[in-house]
Amino acid sequence: MEIRVYDTKEQCGKAAAAIIAAQLLRKPASVLGLATGSTPIPCYQELVRLYEEGVLDFSKAVSYNLDEYVGLPADHVCSYHHFMRVNLFDHVNIRLDATHVPSGTAGDIHEEGAAYDAAIAAAGGIDIQVLGIGRNGHIGFNEPADSFTKGCHLVQLTDSTIDANTRFFNSRDEVPKQAITMGIGSIMAAKTVLLMATGADKAWAINATVNGELTPAVPASVLQTHHDVILILDKAAASLL
Ligand code: F6R
Repeated sequence: MEIRVYDTKEQCGKAAAAIIAAQLLRKPASVLGLATGSTPIPCYQELVRLYEEGVLDFSKAVSYNLDEYVGLPADHVCSYHHFMRVNLFDHVNIRLDATHVPSGTAGDIHEEGAAYDAAIAAAGGIDIQVLGIGRNGHIGFNEPADSFTKGCHLVQLTDSTIDANTRFFNSRDEVPKQAITMGIGSIMAAKTVLLMATGADKAWAINATVNGELTPAVPASVLQTHHDVILILDKAAASLL
């Protein structure tokens, strides 16, 4: 694993954006794996800035997001579909029909998961996968478990994740209890993984990811076996390394 540590989350965002920018400049038709949450927002802001300055062109890019809440329609303000439009897609020239977020309202979530994995494979696989990390070590919505899950699937969110995500909703009761997420196998199939973490509440998970046992109890620890992972951390998230 390559580990880069910065003073601020803004620097982390610029560093992550520089890596994605290099990917897009080398291969304009890149398949981007994208994440939501607070952590990548400075990265997306920097990508928008680079687009506005005429440095980046997203017109040939394709994207696949990690996850979505079950039960939230795409136009719900707390949906990850909405998050991606507000934070990135509406501000760059990516074609909206080239952006993909798993559907949380599909009649059959299992079928939706299988179709999502098939679509990623048909697109040639993910070139670079952006990840945040949960305080419990989750990646995507792959929560601590007894085994790693391969493909895109339905998950029950843990209390820790529901607590952490309550800040995006009016109340804890409104946070969906289930999600659809790319599986660990789908994430590991990405050619490059770019994991971002900022803040002291991520320090335990980052240390467990880098120095801990490889275990599905800390889903991100599987990244120890990926051949091309870069961690972009602020000092607080790196404080236990
Ligand atoms: C989001 C996702 C999650 C988040 C993680 C950290 O698409 O897959 O794994 O990356 O929950 O969230 P933040 O960045 O809000 O701390």
